[in-house]
Amino acid sequence: MTIDLGAGSRLDRSGIREVMDLAASLENVLHLEVGEPDFPTPPHVVEAAQRAIADGVVKYTVSRGLPTLRELIAAKLRDRNGVDAGADRVVVSAGGTPAILETLMVFLHPGDGILVPDPGWPVFALSASLQQARVLRYRVRPETGYLPDLDELAALAPRARVLVVNSPSNPTGAVYDRATLEALYELARRHNLAILSDEVYEDIVFDGEHVSLSALDEDGRVASIFSFSKGYAMTGWRIGYVTGPSAFVETLVKVQEPVIGCPSYVSQKAAEAALTGPQDVLATRRDEYRARRDAVIPLLREHGLFVAEPRGTFYAMANVSPLGADTYDVARRLLLEERVAVAPGETFGPGGAGLVRLSLAGSLDVVTEAVARVAAAVSRA
Ligand SMILES: Cc1ncc(COP(=O)(O)O)c(C=O)c1O
Repeated sequence: MTIDLGAGSRLDRSGIREVMDLAASLENVLHLEVGEPDFPTPPHVVEAAQRAIADGVVKYTVSRGLPTLRELIAAKLRDRNGVDAGADRVVVSAGGTPAILETLMVFLHPGDGILVPDPGWPVFALSASLQQARVLRYRVRPETGYLPDLDELAALAPRARVLVVNSPSNPTGAVYDRATLEALYELARRHNLAILSDEVYEDIVFDGEHVSLSALDEDGRVASIFSFSKGYAMTGWRIGYVTGPSAFVETLVKVQEPVIGCPSYVSQKAAEAALTGPQDVLATRRDEYRARRDAVIPLLREHGLFVAEPRGTFYAMANVSPLGADTYDVARRLLLEERVAVAPGETFGPGGAGLVRLSLAGSLDVVTEAVARVAAAVSRA
């Protein structure tokens, strides 16, 4: 039998995963390629999960997630995000990643246009491609602090059905201010676009505040995606959630059933503990990421690698254009020759040309040494 591999066989893999795979086969590598906090999951969260396992809480749950967890999330959305959704408009998912795919399965039909940031996280375009959608990249540029150009967006909008907004942004570290988000919402309203708002880095904002697009939603066009991965350092637990208008949420629940069945019961109990336990862990870790940014940005400036000041997340772009035009090749050489793993800029779109993304989620010693090695390689070029 021949298996028709369909659209999936034509998908590009994320360049980040390619660097990770190659790096795994080498020794003494400084890892700045992946967006994973180096902090442990808070102990009270781990203990709650251990208790759940000991108590046999290891079964299926309803697809949309435990009512108790959804109530806690609804309270968090109300108190911290100003989003009055209620538990009925919350769906728990296995992290932000499947939530993005599922949301686009609801929003998109084959051939529809979808506006994704360039540079932007590769999973937006990958998930859109799985829906056979047309990816329309909108540039965000370092000169404007990587904020979107509204005129450029307005020119593309007539061909689109969905607008993806990601603030705080991976890979740029941009944090959109309220006025920018309001303008994006107005643009979406004018062109009748649905908005996928990826807010998984909401806890890691250094300058300004995180504003949820769902808090600005007046006519039911925004789906906001959140995760426990980054703020609570729970990447491997695979737990996150979505809120949106009622009709969207009801369809999302139907889509979730064949995609993940339900989120892990154990991880849902862990997420409950994360929300009910002490929250100071979020600020403590954010401050640590800020300290790393404040240490690294002057180094990037000093070595001529600086691109833009990140206002959130734990990423920074570095200008490595003297090393060559193909950033996949540059990333491969930095790994093989300098033992520094970074993400090639072009994996985030053409807007990443000449750049690599550094993850500052590792210890300051590692990040500092890695920047020194990249700088040395650039100065030799
Ligand atoms: C912008 C963005 N959205 C979503 C995610 C998904 O995270 P998770 O699936 O762990 O919740 C990531 C992870 O790197 C990300 O960078």
